Parts: sequence; C-alpha cells; structure tokens
Amino acid sequence: MVRRVPVTETVSPARLAESITFPTSKRTAKNRFMKAALTERVATWNPDDRKACGFPTPELCNMYEKYSHGGFGVLLSGNVAVDPTHLESAGNVIIHKSIDSPERREAFKRYLAAFKAGSDNLAILQLSNAGRQTPLALAKHPISASDVQLLAMRRGSGYGKPRALTTEEVRQNVVHDFAYAARYAYDSGFDGVQIHSAHGYLLAQFFSETTNKRTDQYGGSLENRTRLNLVIYEAIRRLVPVETGFIVGIKMNSKELQAGGLECEDAVYMCKEYERIGFDFIELSGGTIEKLAFQHLSESTVSREAFFFDFAAKIKAALTTIIVYLTGGFRTVHGMVNAIEQGACDGIGWDDPLPQK
Ligand SMILES: Cc1cc2nc3c(=O)[nH]c(=O)nc-3n(C[C@H](O)[C@H](O)[C@H](O)COP(=O)(O)O)c2cc1C
Repeated sequence: MVRRVPVTETVSPARLAESITFPTSKRTAKNRFMKAALTERVATWNPDDRKACGFPTPELCNMYEKYSHGGFGVLLSGNVAVDPTHLESAGNVIIHKSIDSPERREAFKRYLAAFKAGSDNLAILQLSNAGRQTPLALAKHPISASDVQLLAMRRGSGYGKPRALTTEEVRQNVVHDFAYAARYAYDSGFDGVQIHSAHGYLLAQFFSETTNKRTDQYGGSLENRTRLNLVIYEAIRRLVPVETGFIVGIKMNSKELQAGGLECEDAVYMCKEYERIGFDFIELSGGTIEKLAFQHLSESTVSREAFFFDFAAKIKAALTTIIVYLTGGFRTVHGMVNAIEQGACDGIGWDDPLPQK
C-alpha cells in the first residue's frame, strides 16, 4: 500500500521546472529532474550462451516508454554491464565487443526509441562493472582493485574471493570496456552515459581504501585512487569527442558510511578532479552493499529529506561549473526545492516513490 508523505509547508515547484545546461557537452535538460538508476534485470539471460545475454527486451522497452511520459529532464537507465562476466545481476543489459551483433544494435535502437517515445528528455545509459560485487553464481573469483572479499550476503548468496587486476588489465580491459560501451551508446543514439562509481561497484572499489590495497599508479594516495575515473573519461572522449555533444557524467559516493571507507573530504577532492577534466555532471549518493545507505540513518536526514544532504552541500560548495544531482530520500516538493536553494545540488535524482520510515 502506498503511504502518503505529510506536507508541512507549501512551496512553489517553479525551481524544479528550470532547465539545466551541462558545462562540457552544452546540452540542456528541460528541468531539474533525473530519473535515477534502478536495476531492471529484465534483459535476456542464458547462462549457457553469453552472446544471447543482455539484449534489451520488449518488457524493458515498455518500462522506459512509460518512464518517458513522466517528463523527466534526464532519463537514466539502470546499470548496463560493460563486462559480460561481471554483472550486478543476471538480466542486466550488456554492452561488450565480444558479444556484439547487428541484432544487438537493432535492439539498442528500439531501446533508445522507448526512452524517446513520450517526451524530449536526455537519454543516458548508466555503465557499470560490478567487480567483487558480482554474485557468486556468476563469478567464483571476480576481479577487483585488490583481493579483499565482500563478506555480505544478498538475496541468500555471497560473493567470491576476488583477484586483483594487473595494471595492464586495468588499462587494456577496464578502461577500454567503459570507452567502448560509451561509443556504443552514442552510436545507438543515446545522449550520454553515466559512469557508475558509487555503491561499492568496481570503480568504487578503486577509490575506497577498504578495497584498494594497490601499490601501482591506481592505489595508495588519494590522487592515485582518483586516477582510474579520469583515465576512463579521457578514453571515452577519444572515441566520442566533446564536439559531438555527448554527455558524460558520473555517480559517486559522497561518503561510504563504513569504517575506513571514503570520507566526504576525499569525495570533495575527487569531484573537483572530475570537474577539472570535464565530466558534465556528478550524481551524489552514498553507501555500499556492505553498508546500505538508501535509507534514513539519522533524524537530521529525515528532517532534511535527502539522505546525503550535508555531504552534498560540502561537495557542491567546492565546485563551480559541474552540475550536481543529489539522489536518495526525496519525497516532497518542499524537500527538493529546499536542497536546491540551500546549495546542496542543482538537480534531483529520484526513483523509488515509496516513502521510507
Ligand atoms: C531496487 C533498486 C535498484 C537500484 N539499482 C541501481 C542501479 O542500477 N544503479 C545505481 O546507481 N543505483 C541503483 N539503486 C540506487 C538508486 O539509484 C538510488 O540511489 C536509491 O534508490 C535512493 O534513491 P530514492 O530514495 O529516490 O529511491 C537502486 C536502488 C534500488 C532500491
């Protein structure tokens, strides 16, 4: 049953209808809303035939056709895997050179058409590699920044002991996979991509000291732990230059909320680097599978509605041009307008409409 959120203050929604122009691609979202990523798990799946996996299905297209009538300025997909062996779950959409075919490209064109069916939104694919968060049934020894195993259980299953990627594999495979998928999205007609670097997935495994014990140029100092996302950005821009108007954003934790995890001050440094190199937007979230944070963890977040309000305000204060979306916990016009006016964000990421306790 849907519970209603009590509204204590009436506020004009006009600010939410304002457009947002991205600083690098110069593309404009018609309003401040972004439909945030919600994994769908309804792409094709056949454990015995990798080439048959990860096609957008009519069910998935139907879902996005419905979303497209919702009027979001930015319509973001759930995570799309860039490595067929490291999915967040069976049923993810997949883009990878080894499984490409004319049929898959046609399916992606139908997928894009569903995004665009109802309104003039910006259609963005979220690109992701689950790394050590790949379910055990899909990878006994997944890749990660280091060999630190995720000991959490999820849906009755655990996670395998990961192996650390070599420096060469980071450069040749991980970077290449994200760049290839971005180009694929561009060729399919999407307006942009978002690199999923939050919630403990592979790219977050590189920035967090809890999972990154490396001694090469991708480990150790904050600068080194920030490097991979910058290298991926540059690789994407080599395949899809700025002049194309293609949008490149990133989802990032504002804080990991677990012992030894990423602190907000670290996130400030990383976000400034993302701004410097040219990312169009940052979507701020928080937590990992080890410590889920898609819920109110304290009374102050309940009163401010957004889970990561305080962290986002600190990060945004250090930035100048990059667009900041904040996701998690928004339920009322008052909460959304307040977050924008208090300087915590420019845009509102939003998906699960059910009020939380
Ligand atoms: C069922 C479910 C699936 C999700 N899938 C993704 C995903 O694929 N990628 C991602 O970045 N976040 C994912 N999230 C996190 C959401 O994007 C969002 O950060 C979170 O739901 C908090 O926002 P909300 O309070 O508006 O729901 C998921 C959350 C839920 C509940």
